[in-house]
Amino acid sequence: MADWISFYDLRHSLIYVNARHRDVHYRKIADDLRALAPSPTAAVLDYGCGEATSADYLAESCGHLTMVEAAPNVMAALKARYGGNGKISVIGPAEAAAKPAASFDLIVLHSVAQYLSGAELDGLLATFRELLKPDGHLVVGDIVPPRFAAPAAALSLLRCGAENGFFIAAVRGLIRIAVSDYLRLKSKVGLSHYDEAAMLEKLTRAGYRAERAARNVGHNQWRMTFLARPASGA
Ligand SMILES: C[S@@+](CC[C@H](N)C(=O)[O-])C[C@H]1O[C@@H](n2cnc3c(N)ncnc32)[C@H](O)[C@@H]1O
Repeated sequence: MADWISFYDLRHSLIYVNARHRDVHYRKIADDLRALAPSPTAAVLDYGCGEATSADYLAESCGHLTMVEAAPNVMAALKARYGGNGKISVIGPAEAAAKPAASFDLIVLHSVAQYLSGAELDGLLATFRELLKPDGHLVVGDIVPPRFAAPAAALSLLRCGAENGFFIAAVRGLIRIAVSDYLRLKSKVGLSHYDEAAMLEKLTRAGYRAERAARNVGHNQWRMTFLARPASGA
C-alpha cells in the first residue's frame, strides 16, 4: 500500500466496521452539513467525499452537490449510486480544479486534511479560494490535533457503536485495524496534525477569515471544524 488514496480505495471496509457504522457516520455528516448549507439553491462541493451514503439527503438541502473523490473504486461506486440523481455530480480532483472561478457557495473538506502534506493542503486551500464565490464559505472539518488522536478516535468509535447498536463490531473493527497495514502506512507516509492556532494561521495565510466552529462535523468531538470565508469577500 503506497499512499492514503490507495488505502482508502482498497481498505475502506477497515475504516467502517460494518455497513451500519458507515451509514450512521455519513448520515451524521450529512445532518451537520445540511445545517451549514447556505441556501436551498447553493452550489456545494464536497472534496474527498468518500462513500457518502447520505449524499442524496445532503443534496436535498442545496441546489447542486458536486462530489469529488480521488479513489477510483470509491468514485465508481458513487457514480453507480448517484448516476440517476440530477442534483449530484461525481468528479475527480483534476476536474474539480478545472472548474471556473467562483463556482461554489460552499466547499467542504472533511476528514481529508490529515492525509495531505502541509504543502498539499496549502495548494488545495488556494484552489478552493479560486473556486469559491466571494461570499462563499469553506468548511474544513475533522482536523486532528497533535495529542491523543488515536485513543480519541478509538473511544469515539466505541461510543458511536454503543449508541447505534454496533458496539461489538466496533471492538472487532479496532482489533482488525490494529493488525492491518494501516499502522505501517501511518509510520511510512504519516498523518498531518494541527492544533487550533496552526490551522487558523494556515487558513489566514491562504486568504481566508476563519474561526473554529463550536462543534466538529461528525461524531468525533476531539477533532475540530473550521469555518472560513474569502478574506476580501462579503
Ligand atoms: C476518511 S475518508 C473521508 C471521507 C469523507 N469526507 C468523510 O468525512 O467520511 C478520506 C478521504 O480523503 C481522500 N484522500 C486521501 N488522500 C488524498 C489526496 N492526496 N488527495 C485527494 N484526496 C485524498 C480519500 O480518497 C477519501 O475520500
